Amino acid sequence: MADLEAVMDEAGLTNPRVRAFVVEYAELTGAARVEVINASDDARLLEEAVAAGELEEVGEGRYYSRSYHKDTARSEERTVVATSDEKDRGVYNNWRPTSEMKPLLHERMRGASEGRTMYVVPYLMAPPGNPLAPWAAGVELTDTRTVVLHMIRMARVGVQHVNDLEDPDSFVRAVHVTGDLEHLGQGTADDQRWFVTVADERTILHFGSSYGGNALLGKIAHGLRQGAYDGWASRKFLAEQYMLIGIHDKETGRTYHVCGGFPSASGKTNLAMMAAPDALGERYHVSFYGDDIAWLWVDEDTGRLMGMNPEYGVFGVAKDTNERTNPNALASVGEGTDCIFTNVAHNPTTGEVWWEGRTEEKPRDRRGWLDWTGSPVADRKDDDTAPWAHPNSRFTTTLANVPNIAPDYDAPAGVPIDAIIFGGRTRDREPLIRAITDLAEGVYDGLTLGAEATSAAEGKEGVLRYDPMSNRPFMAYGEGDYARHYLDVVGAATDQPIFAHVNWFQRDAEDGHFLWPGYRDNLRPLLWLLRLRDGEVQGRRTAVGIVPTEDELDLTGMDVPAEDLQRILSIDKERWQQEMGFREEHLAQFDRMPEEIWEAHRRVAADLEQED
Ligand code: GDP
Ligand code: PGA
Ligand code: MN
Repeated sequence: MADLEAVMDEAGLTNPRVRAFVVEYAELTGAARVEVINASDDARLLEEAVAAGELEEVGEGRYYSRSYHKDTARSEERTVVATSDEKDRGVYNNWRPTSEMKPLLHERMRGASEGRTMYVVPYLMAPPGNPLAPWAAGVELTDTRTVVLHMIRMARVGVQHVNDLEDPDSFVRAVHVTGDLEHLGQGTADDQRWFVTVADERTILHFGSSYGGNALLGKIAHGLRQGAYDGWASRKFLAEQYMLIGIHDKETGRTYHVCGGFPSASGKTNLAMMAAPDALGERYHVSFYGDDIAWLWVDEDTGRLMGMNPEYGVFGVAKDTNERTNPNALASVGEGTDCIFTNVAHNPTTGEVWWEGRTEEKPRDRRGWLDWTGSPVADRKDDDTAPWAHPNSRFTTTLANVPNIAPDYDAPAGVPIDAIIFGGRTRDREPLIRAITDLAEGVYDGLTLGAEATSAAEGKEGVLRYDPMSNRPFMAYGEGDYARHYLDVVGAATDQPIFAHVNWFQRDAEDGHFLWPGYRDNLRPLLWLLRLRDGEVQGRRTAVGIVPTEDELDLTGMDVPAEDLQRILSIDKERWQQEMGFREEHLAQFDRMPEEIWEAHRRVAADLEQED
């Protein structure tokens, strides 16, 4: 491609190391053309994508994309962290040596973009000027236009983010090649896909999927796996699968910042987009900083633990999003937002979209509706109960469209963190909220987060599993080293955050109904937590943390049956004692687990014995 240098000249891509990287992979993948992308290319790319049939316009300024039917979620088995040092092997990171994985990926990618355009997407996973910006620059090369359109929504994109790097080499090299999706043997013994982060070379090589979680390399591969590795290697920061919100109390004028990890598809986006319940809306406002990733560090001047969202958009789960559960989410994908829906049901005739839980009943007039596979639902047999939308169908929208976006979400300094919460789908045992004031016990609690797996990963829905800090699919190095690093980073802060474990998903053993209505009402236990931190309530001490008394929880304007409330605020001693045995086995798998974590485990176990 003789004109490649000219293309980069014209696009103003000046970083010589980036240019060399582009040349190397243009040759390897055999792409026919190269295009350098800035965010300002969005409107043109949308038009091209519609003309090529990759996107459909549904209503004014809303777009629809469908993925290949075997390419709808992250693949955890095929995801690998590679380095040259076997000490980086953990239980969950699927560690492999670089010497094995890099040639394998290069072989898969060789010639695989023949005839296609290779898009060069320079990005920054941080607000510009943030102290962690030196680890946030990257360049994704992708051969798929819809991936570019998603990247423009999810990350800050443009050549300025890589041109003026202090060290021109300090960007993440991220290569995405989709491959021939119909012939990759997804999920079989002959699976051709590989999603590899070569962490000690800051290189990401993903082959075989165009689904967001596998293909938007700024997000999960850089924002989580590479970020986590860099944060540890530099001893400077944590990269976590956390949402990050501000809770503003108009009466006292105070704003608190809460971040926290729930496994994929367990409520982070909903919590971050929360509109306060009507009865509390006069006094409180919840603002959105981030819904999926937070990087945390200690400010060198103030000594405070700080957090920021490296992303620029939202990749949210559609299922059950409606006017009652999440009005802000619906507004963020309204007309004129240029949002992209993936794998929901849609009606090309009327320009409507629908997913399970969007409305209580399915649209009555079935004419024109297509399910997520593209089949007309009118042709379905009456007893066909398959969902119209894929359970992991998503919407992608940029932060500016989120109605409750924090005014200072882009501030270089980040925000001070008051509380860190963990949670997940747990149908029993875990109460609504239990607060933990001790750092080691908080970290211990995060490491033993056990929850039901969800549709965000292939083939695991409903299985109970441990998911340390909700990072299991994103762990980049050994879990014991991770625990040590977490204790060191947060422990260095002058003002310790309070920890808590929350569970919005406890169910009735008989009829299976959720014991807590969830969504907007989740603000209530968080307000209790902040009051506890401020010493305004005392709660009830238990072996596994402090739980609210019934009258401490502000339930104004809501109706929870007394027995449900009692259940979600109580501790089932026997179930917890059984759980402690499982936790011991879980923790024992990890090398170099810090002694503080074992001490916390033994302390909780001993306290449980004393509990009546
Ligand atoms: P994320 O992937 O962690 O960001 O999770 P989302 O916020 O996108 O939510 C995943 C799924 O859980 C969606 O189908 C939500 O409707 C549902 N969900 C979120 N919060 C709650 C809650 O408080 N209660 C219940 N029952 N479901 C919830
Ligand atoms: P989620 O997104 O955590 O919002 O589900 C990312 C993913 O896991 O694919
Ligand atoms: Mn989310």
